[in-house]
Amino acid sequence: MKFSEDLLSEIRDKNDIVTVVSEYVSLKKSGKNYIGLCPFHSEKTPSFTVNPDKQMFYCFGCGVGGNVYTFIMQKEHMSFPEAVRFLAERAGIILPEEKEDPEYLEKLRLKKKFYEINRIAARYFYNCLVNSDQGVRALNYLKSRGISITTIKSFGIGYSLPDWEDLICYLKAKGYKETTLEKAGLAIKRKNGEEFYDRFRGRIMFPIFDIQNNIIGFGGRVLDDSKPKYLNSPETEVYNKRKNLYGLNFVKKHLVDDRILIVEGYMDVISLHQYGIKQAVASLGTSLTSEQAKLLRRYVKNVVVAYDADTAGISATLRGMDILKNAGLNVKVVMLPKGSDPDEYIRRFGKEAFLEKVDKAYSLIDFKIKHLENQFDLKNLQGRVNFLNRVVPIISEIDNEIEKDAYIKKLSQKLNITEESIRLELKKTSKTLPVNGFKHNKGIKWNDNKERLKIITQSANIKAERDLINLMITDKSYYKRIFQEIDIDFFSDEDHKQIIKAISKGYENKNNLNSSEVIDYLEDERLIRKASLIFSGEVFFTETERVLQDCIKTLKTHKLNKRIQSLQDRLKKLEKQGDYSESKQILAEIKTLQKQTRII
Ligand code: UTP
Ligand code: MN
Repeated sequence: MKFSEDLLSEIRDKNDIVTVVSEYVSLKKSGKNYIGLCPFHSEKTPSFTVNPDKQMFYCFGCGVGGNVYTFIMQKEHMSFPEAVRFLAERAGIILPEEKEDPEYLEKLRLKKKFYEINRIAARYFYNCLVNSDQGVRALNYLKSRGISITTIKSFGIGYSLPDWEDLICYLKAKGYKETTLEKAGLAIKRKNGEEFYDRFRGRIMFPIFDIQNNIIGFGGRVLDDSKPKYLNSPETEVYNKRKNLYGLNFVKKHLVDDRILIVEGYMDVISLHQYGIKQAVASLGTSLTSEQAKLLRRYVKNVVVAYDADTAGISATLRGMDILKNAGLNVKVVMLPKGSDPDEYIRRFGKEAFLEKVDKAYSLIDFKIKHLENQFDLKNLQGRVNFLNRVVPIISEIDNEIEKDAYIKKLSQKLNITEESIRLELKKTSKTLPVNGFKHNKGIKWNDNKERLKIITQSANIKAERDLINLMITDKSYYKRIFQEIDIDFFSDEDHKQIIKAISKGYENKNNLNSSEVIDYLEDERLIRKASLIFSGEVFFTETERVLQDCIKTLKTHKLNKRIQSLQDRLKKLEKQGDYSESKQILAEIKTLQKQTRII
């Protein structure tokens, strides 16, 4: 993709470098230039300058410099074309290729409209919070939780009045249609199908921003203990909770070291921020997705997970870890005292205490071990043995032998079990089968022997399914061919179906796929491993055509055989009960099916 010079300078002109850089760095005017702390290296006195006349930046400390494109490329970790698109979108410039795509243009129009509506709504909510009689209660609630007015302003926190059509009336007066408000997620249609009411009523409103500071949705919290505690915007043209992180727009402005904290709630982000820890984001009430992990990877290499210290928080942590790791992030985990969350902890013990927790965050392995420790009674032998059985697979995951050794020593002391016995147990789990090709581009290790064995001894049918999956990603034409002959229900393995769905998603807007892209569409860690295993399989398709036909044939036959089998079972069962009324009909059906298997 080449961009014309005219286009590039138009985009550059409409993205003033001072304004763009200000979204990431606090700048101060100094003579002709602006200065601030360099976002590319850590420093205490500003040596980063932006020159508005030349539209360039330069750091006297570390020597980085360039124009607005270079800045975005480095700050957002983008390639040149990506930075061009990013800045074009930021300035509302439509690229030539997009001008010819009416669908895209319509989407763009909608998006802009929703951003606009959301911004007006957020302003209105803010006003209701600070300037209305009814807002006093909400304001007091926020005060009681230690939230200052400055914080309220910087996060744009507001309040939705308890009335049923308050926001709708306000926005209607501004010329927006109710149906538009519904699509933007702010209004809900009444059962009678004609009138609408406000989605958010009587709630403290947290606007959710994207990284470009557009308001894409809201989270609304009740003022008491009623349920649901939070209501969030539904998925809209602009809001996708899987792809955004609450607070990232603030964080990217304040990144001082190569590290972001991930917490669970809006309140945690806000509270930490107020205490000067401006590097926390929240995952919008879902478990972390690979999209979110990739988004984080654009800004930092290290993440520290600080989820609530309850069972839900712990299992969410464990689930999130691998997703983060697979995106190439170094992951550490903060362990808070039972029952507390970052907001509560920092308010009780202060910033320093919290930062200490962050600095002493556990590695993934330590966290898993610590977590297991709490589940067993290590005072008695049986408890220790049970604990050991669960710990051994975790230790065997460690690649580094020295590190592994250290863990064995530590465990031996803690459990009062000899190092030799621990090593013996370890050996048992690592007795692996000589199968090649288990390593693949995501670096996921294959540890589960049982699973491995199962796959090796798979039936012909499963093998055919796997070969077909591999064919599908080799070439879109195969993908199409396969689904001309069979449909997804011919695949008997549920996981295979999921993987195929991911492939279909990939092909929706692309003609070429590689396996690592397919992985991105899968969320479940087990599925990722399985898909990786399948893709890593060495498939030599010299006679692709024949393989394709054979596999399809296998699947068709298998499906028919399964049907025949179930009919035979049914026949047996009925005859056992002395019921012969359907026998003739079932037999005939079996015969037809058998005939069909012969002509596949
Ligand atoms: P928490 O219950 O921990 O919320 O849920 P919180 O933000 O810490 O709020 P406080 O401290 O109780 O006031 C964590 C996140 O899960 C999502 C929200 O994004 C919330 O911030 N959530 C929670 C919902 O979406 N809906 C709910 O009903 C509850
Ligand atoms: Mn909380």
